[in-house]
Amino acid sequence: MNPSLQIMAAQVDPGLFDLPWDTPIAEWPEDIIAALPRGISRHTVRFVYLGERIIAVKEIGERVAYREYEMLRDLGRHDAPAVEPVAIVTGRSTADGEPLSDALVTEHLVFSLPYRAIFGQHQRQDSVRRLIDALSVLMVRLHLLGFYWGDVSLSNTLFRRDAGEFAAYLVDAETGELYPSLTTGKREYDIDVARTNIIGELMDLQAGEILQMDVDAIEVGDTFVQRYNE
Ligand SMILES: Nc1ncnc2c1ncn2[C@@H]1O[C@H](COP(=O)(O)OP(=O)(O)O)[C@@H](O)[C@H]1O
Ligand SMILES: [Mg+2]
Repeated sequence: MNPSLQIMAAQVDPGLFDLPWDTPIAEWPEDIIAALPRGISRHTVRFVYLGERIIAVKEIGERVAYREYEMLRDLGRHDAPAVEPVAIVTGRSTADGEPLSDALVTEHLVFSLPYRAIFGQHQRQDSVRRLIDALSVLMVRLHLLGFYWGDVSLSNTLFRRDAGEFAAYLVDAETGELYPSLTTGKREYDIDVARTNIIGELMDLQAGEILQMDVDAIEVGDTFVQRYNE
């Protein structure tokens, strides 16, 4: 095994050492990969079987991996609805000594769906409203904790069905910052980013014929702001 490989975690699952860290995760063998729906992302993310569990592995730069790991830990301490960090893997390289990206490992959020998967299925008339409601509740909770998200979007959120409604969880904390309390400026900026991203993401679904054209994306964005303020 590569001697500079390091796995940092609060509790290291020994199975983590058996994963093929010396190959890019895009090339990991299919028999360890869990075929579950995944949202769009900049980085490569794969779901991997680890004993009884499923983990999400994201290839990402080192400084960013630490930051996101710590941020998710802090959010977890505050019982925020967010994915749970498991480990950071650094010092990866191929058998030929080519360096590979670090990896952030999180616990796969059981029964969660990315927003695209919700529209891919038999969607209900009010799916959009329920998603927006769930995201606004999540935002309010995070803001009350003093968390500034920085990149709020449907893609950075996971949804779970919860008694006919949806519950939303934060999945991407890369741009997040935690303060003792949030200034009005930061809060408003976050809401504005959310509104813009939601509108763009819904229009994108419509362009891909995944969402009906009669949904008014801008109106939904405005409804989000209204729900948040309520
Ligand atoms: N712990 C997890 N549980 C379930 N899905 C996850 C998890 N981590 C990542 N994903 C999926 O991978 C996608 C991309 O993750 P994200 O952290 O947003 O990557 P990026 O930083 O590249 O945007 C998410 O939208 C989600 O669908
Ligand atoms: Mg993301």
